[in-house]
Amino acid sequence: MSTTSRRGLFLTFEGLDGCGKTTQMHLLAERLRARGETVIETVEPGGTEIGMGIRRILLDPRNDNMGSEAEMLLYFAARAQNVHEVLEPAVARGEIVMSDRWTDSTWAYQGYGRELGTEVVRDLDAIACRGRRPDVTFWIDIDLEASLLRARSRNQERAEQDTRMDDQSRAFYERVYQGYLALEETEPERVVRIDGRGSVETVAERVMAAFEARRGSHV
Ligand code: TMP
Repeated sequence: MSTTSRRGLFLTFEGLDGCGKTTQMHLLAERLRARGETVIETVEPGGTEIGMGIRRILLDPRNDNMGSEAEMLLYFAARAQNVHEVLEPAVARGEIVMSDRWTDSTWAYQGYGRELGTEVVRDLDAIACRGRRPDVTFWIDIDLEASLLRARSRNQERAEQDTRMDDQSRAFYERVYQGYLALEETEPERVVRIDGRGSVETVAERVMAAFEARRGSHV
């Protein structure tokens, strides 16, 4: 965990749809709060009011003719506002910020899934996030079959909103998964792959152990 960690810590949770990252983030946040840490939880897209508006546009199934470039820029617009409004102030106060998805999702979903490439994702990230990168990223890894199953059952429970991404083809999700694999290979010091199989508690123990290991060796 780099120099930013002394003035707060920025942790992100990543993975395929339905991997359980949201639950795992809440559980880690609760455990750290119980130890007296101040933890801010946020989500991308949607961690600010402006971001919520952008999320509605992005995930609205009626917008199925949205171009890939417009989509990528909207994700970055939401994130830029989050950096401005939530992330930077909290890290400056010395708090722990956790985000449910961040630029690695754009790397995997737009860079690989939409085949826009990773260079443009890096370039836009430098602008939108003002050079701030996560200290540690937990990639909750479940395989594609498990992800598709969970996404489908989640769709049946939800209203029609928030389903545009879930309607993507299988080939798309295969590329997204390749994106996460490549990410781990590219930045092994930051990206921790967590086996997402097993009970919620089992996975939570793995996340906690990985957090302690990183914290112990870097902070
Ligand atoms: P969520 O269900 O985890 O909140 O994510 C919403 C969807 O948005 C999910 O299918 C992944 C997608 N997404 C991208 O395609 N690119 C991004 O940069 C982000 C943050 C999410």
